[in-house]
Amino acid sequence: MSRALPGRSFRVTFLPAGRTVVVNPQDLPYGRCGLPGSLLDIALGNGIDMEHACGGVCACSTCHVIVREGIESCSAPTEKEQDQLDLVPGLRPTSRLACQCVPDGTCDIVAELPAWNRNAVRERER
Ligand code: FES
Repeated sequence: MSRALPGRSFRVTFLPAGRTVVVNPQDLPYGRCGLPGSLLDIALGNGIDMEHACGGVCACSTCHVIVREGIESCSAPTEKEQDQLDLVPGLRPTSRLACQCVPDGTCDIVAELPAWNRNAVRERER
């Protein structure tokens, strides 16, 4: 299913780093990984490290994020994403796979990397 990209700029804050990026629709997609304009695409396109073991194709769940604000502006999860989310530790009602979650830009987003993912990033940096 293709989705229209946002019609205006919006902000995405990634926790716990507290880094906020301004997403300008004309810059999308960044084309790194995941669906065009997805939270993973936005993170990697702005130099924010995030696990994405399967390369952003909804096959691993390592890109798990908890959307703390702005979930109403995000694309609905597909059945395939729901199946992958069932496998993540620390699942929350607003858990999403960053590679599949595409904001429509109607509000700002706050997305938190769960501790498990943060640890995975730390391990890789060693
Ligand atoms: Fe594998 Fe998102 S990177 S499911």
